[in-house]
Amino acid sequence: MRTVLIVGNWKMNKIASEAVAFVHELKERLPTLSATVELVVAPPFTALESVRMALGTSSPIQLGAQNMFWEESGAYTGEVSAPMLKDLGCRYVILGHSERRTLFGEQSDSIQKKIRAALKHELRPILCVGESLAQRDKGSTDDVLMQQLHESLSGFTGEAIAGVTIAYEPIWAIGTGKSATTEQAVAAHRTIRRVLASTTSPAITDCMRILYGGSVTPENIESLLASDQIDGALIGGACLQVESFATIARVVSAARSIGV
Ligand code: 13P
Repeated sequence: MRTVLIVGNWKMNKIASEAVAFVHELKERLPTLSATVELVVAPPFTALESVRMALGTSSPIQLGAQNMFWEESGAYTGEVSAPMLKDLGCRYVILGHSERRTLFGEQSDSIQKKIRAALKHELRPILCVGESLAQRDKGSTDDVLMQQLHESLSGFTGEAIAGVTIAYEPIWAIGTGKSATTEQAVAAHRTIRRVLASTTSPAITDCMRILYGGSVTPENIESLLASDQIDGALIGGACLQVESFATIARVVSAARSIGV
């Protein structure tokens, strides 16, 4: 069985002191983590170092970043590279989030370069894909997912793709309080797994995790994870309060049958 992955995407929230207070409280509430659950916090770049220090060396909670540039160093004002994130103790990096695609014009060719750079530096990319409401209403969800996956992962070996986690985040569910139903999420996850299997192999795809993201809360996480097609969650709003993030971690641990 695949280990569940729960990632808190803080987006552009919390200054360093708030981040540290959050992590101390989270550690208190989750002194241990079930072996069936991996928990990641992805603060803004400016809080990565403080969060790393606050987590300490023995915490099972891992660190992720929300974006990066594909070059290793050079004249790229305002950018942050994979070696820089690695140096700060990041294990994961979220790439191709729909906010980056829509607000900052990020496209699949740059996402592909970022994935390649992340893998080269042993960061685990979390590739976000998902359709808009108009695309869903037109019945083109599967086509959109297929296109995003093909464009972002073309040219990679199966072994490289195996190192990527996919996050299905329907744009209409992000920050709206209107989560996809478990059935909608499962259908999209099946499509994603089928596309991945056709570009790699069923054996590789079986080991890959596909997360759901979009208005995940302590109330709906259990029903979403009731399906073994859903291997975890990428959480925005509900990860900003310690109580709700810790509750999600506990619910997930209990649902996958080992208590925190
Ligand atoms: P919300 O959980 O706030 O809907 O955000 C989801 C998201 O974008 C996580 O990356």
